[in-house]
Amino acid sequence: MEETLRSLQQEAIEKVNEAQDLKALNDVRVAYLGKKGPVTEALKGMGKLSAEERPKMGALANEVRGAITETIEAKQAILEKEAVEKKLQSETIDVTLPGRPVKSGNHHPLTMIVEEIEDLFIGMGYTIAEGPEVEKDYYNFEALNLPKGHPARDMQDSFYISEETLLRTHTSPVQARTMELADGKGPIKIICPGKVYRRDTDDATHSHQFTQIEGLVVDEHIRMSDLKGTLNVFAKKMFGEDREIRLRPSFFPFTEPSVEMDISCKICGGEGCRVCKGTGWIEILGAGMVHPNVLEMAGFDSSKYSGFAFGMGPERIAMLKYGIDDIRHYYTNDTRFLKQFSEKE
Ligand code: PHE
Repeated sequence: MEETLRSLQQEAIEKVNEAQDLKALNDVRVAYLGKKGPVTEALKGMGKLSAEERPKMGALANEVRGAITETIEAKQAILEKEAVEKKLQSETIDVTLPGRPVKSGNHHPLTMIVEEIEDLFIGMGYTIAEGPEVEKDYYNFEALNLPKGHPARDMQDSFYISEETLLRTHTSPVQARTMELADGKGPIKIICPGKVYRRDTDDATHSHQFTQIEGLVVDEHIRMSDLKGTLNVFAKKMFGEDREIRLRPSFFPFTEPSVEMDISCKICGGEGCRVCKGTGWIEILGAGMVHPNVLEMAGFDSSKYSGFAFGMGPERIAMLKYGIDDIRHYYTNDTRFLKQFSEKE
């Protein structure tokens, strides 16, 4: 028995030394010291020994077990240290490597234009007003002097949701709502940016969904010259101090008189070119003096109060400012297009 135990010790220690990793080492532990291992087996056989031999063999078996355990523990410490070193080595970070660039987005060109226009008017004392995109027929048309069946409703093909609700066709309903809330008392000085919808077939210059910014000023003694002065400041700040504006008579049911504003063509300086279609002028927005019916319907005394309103399309303004030739670029989300407007560059 003594021999068996000694050769087991020898054998186990050799195996421990051969073990290359922690798993192999554990296999050795299970094989030699486990419940079914030879050392345990040997100890079980002690019953058969004589009374004097039993304690001797018991002590020897414990010694063998202790020796094997010790070598295993020593080896385990070495292997664990090696494993940590290996891991550290494989995870070493080369701080001299150039970093991977983080891709960042930028504001959409339309957002940028809208914010630029907003800032410009906020600088002139305006506040921003917003309203719902799903609008009542009343605010979209009726309160703007466009009763049911009015032929001018055809100017704005609409997406109806029900008989009385539709996707707003312009941001003008926000002016109707704001005036109504003002309870017949001025002054009002707002701009209303937002999305609008029309039943249009999309092409290079039309989209069924686009953006508008509407402006409205209501107070006592507001005159056409105030409108013209405001638009002149806007045009120069937006397109350059050398730009001229001109107002042409036009028609909107909610303004009287109504005008359309052109700015002088930057490309040809007024000579006439392809962009301005040979006229030297480019149409920018619609405007006019708020119709007395619109003021009265919103609860304002039109003999005391007057106002002006204007409405423009940021898509068109950005197209002119940045030379964008197709309105669909704004909505197709091609990052090659969008990235050109990165503020950082
Ligand atoms: N709401 C008009 C449109 O969408 C624009 C406009 C606004 C014209 C305010 C005059 C005054 O066509």
